[in-house]
Amino acid sequence: MKVVETIAEMRQLREQLIEPVGFVPTMGYFHEGHLSLIRRARAENPSVVVSIFVNPAQFGPQEDFSSYPRDPQRDLAILEKEKTDVVFMPSVAEMYPPDFDSWVEVSKVTERLEGASRPGHFRGVATVVAKLFNIVQPTRAYFGQKDAQQAIVIKKMVADLNMDLEIIVMPTVRDSDGLATSTRNAYLNIEERQAAIVLYKSLSLAQQLWSQGERDAEHIRQQMRTLIQKEPLATIDYVSIADPETLKEMDRVKTPALVSLAVEIGKVRLIDNVVVE
Ligand code: PAF
Repeated sequence: MKVVETIAEMRQLREQLIEPVGFVPTMGYFHEGHLSLIRRARAENPSVVVSIFVNPAQFGPQEDFSSYPRDPQRDLAILEKEKTDVVFMPSVAEMYPPDFDSWVEVSKVTERLEGASRPGHFRGVATVVAKLFNIVQPTRAYFGQKDAQQAIVIKKMVADLNMDLEIIVMPTVRDSDGLATSTRNAYLNIEERQAAIVLYKSLSLAQQLWSQGERDAEHIRQQMRTLIQKEPLATIDYVSIADPETLKEMDRVKTPALVSLAVEIGKVRLIDNVVVE
C-alpha cells in the first residue's frame, strides 16, 4: 500500500495503476459503512484508491471541522488490511492553496433538506469531489446511501459536467438496533446513543404506515414527528418524504419515495433515510 500526500505523487502513481480503478473518497475515522464501500471497490476493481481528507469547505463556520474525529494511524492499518493500493491524504494547503478561487455549484437539488439546513455544504462537497475525481481519475467511485442527498448531488454533477466515471451507491450499514453507522455517532454519550434509535424507529414507522396503505405524505410525516417528539433528547430539524430525484416534497406518496430526516440528539446532529419502493 502506498500512502501519498501530494497531488503530483498521486498523479504519478495513478499512471501505474491497472484499470479499472475503484475510488472511495472519505474523511477518515472509518466505521462499518466505510468498510462496505472499500470492500465493494476491492471486489470490483484490480486497483483501489481511498482518500482521507477532512474537507474544511463543506463545514459551516459554527460546525465541527476542528473537532471532527480523526485517527489516521488506525485508518491506515484498516486500509492495509483491506488491501488498498493507494491512500491519498492531502493537506488542506495542498487542496486549497491560498489563491484557490473556483467552486462547483449544483443547483436545485441542493436547495432543500441538508442544503437548506447547511448553507454552502454541498458547494464544498461538490468542489472537493470534483477535484478528487480530477486528481484520481477513477473508473468507479463509491458513496453511501446514508448521505442520500450527497449521492444525488454527486450523480447530478457527474452527469451535468460529463465526468467519465460510474457512481455506485451502497446501502446504509446499521448497528443491530437500527442506528445508521456514522462518524458523528462517536460524539454520543450512552444516554444519547440510546435516544438516537428514534431516527430509525420513525423511518420504520413511515415504512409500516406505507405498507398498511397510507398514502397521505403529511399524515406520515406528522406521525414520524410525534414519535420523535416523545424522545426528550431529540430536536427535529426536518422530516421529509420526497421524490428521490428532484427532492420535491410529496403530497401523495408515490414510489420510490425518499423518506429522510435530520434530528439533533443533544447537540449531535444525525441524518438517516430509507427509500420506500
Ligand atoms: O461523505 C463524506 O465523507 C464526504 O462528504 C466526502 C464525499 C468524502 C467529501 O468530502
